[in-house]
Amino acid sequence: MLSPKLQTAINAQINLELASSYAYLAMASHFDANSLPGMSNWMRVQSEEERVHAMKLYDHMGDRGGQVVLGAIPAPNHEFATPLAVFEAALHHEQVVTKSIHALYALAVAENDYPAQVMLQWFINEQVEEEKNAMTAIDQLKMAAGNPSAILMLDQLFGARTAEATAGEA
Ligand code: FEO
Repeated sequence: MLSPKLQTAINAQINLELASSYAYLAMASHFDANSLPGMSNWMRVQSEEERVHAMKLYDHMGDRGGQVVLGAIPAPNHEFATPLAVFEAALHHEQVVTKSIHALYALAVAENDYPAQVMLQWFINEQVEEEKNAMTAIDQLKMAAGNPSAILMLDQLFGARTAEATAGEA
């Protein structure tokens, strides 16, 4: 059974993952409002992935006799100056999530909770991928800076992202 400390920390992580899903949906709406449907698609896929992350934690809680308690989600930002600023915000967000996952893993170690450690190893690997995806998009947008044709080409590339393939690999 999960310790009360771990239950509290996992509930906080579920909230952060759902807040991530909400934040990426706001980024998608920003791109929709600015006629960049491919970048909106990238963010919509990301938003769905975050919900999957939340549900992995949700299910682990149930499997281990814990109680999921959902908290409030703050309103996300919809206003960004450029596409690059959106992806920079995404990278910053992922860095915050990575720190939170690492702290959760450290707590699972301190609590001698081996199943939680195994479950969280998936998230540690996933965060490497999440940060890489945002960094790739940032690098590509920097290359396209000031060139509308290049931005539109990237929009097409990001539009090919699916749940399995990421921008840059799409
Ligand atoms: Fe679930 Fe993007 O961290």
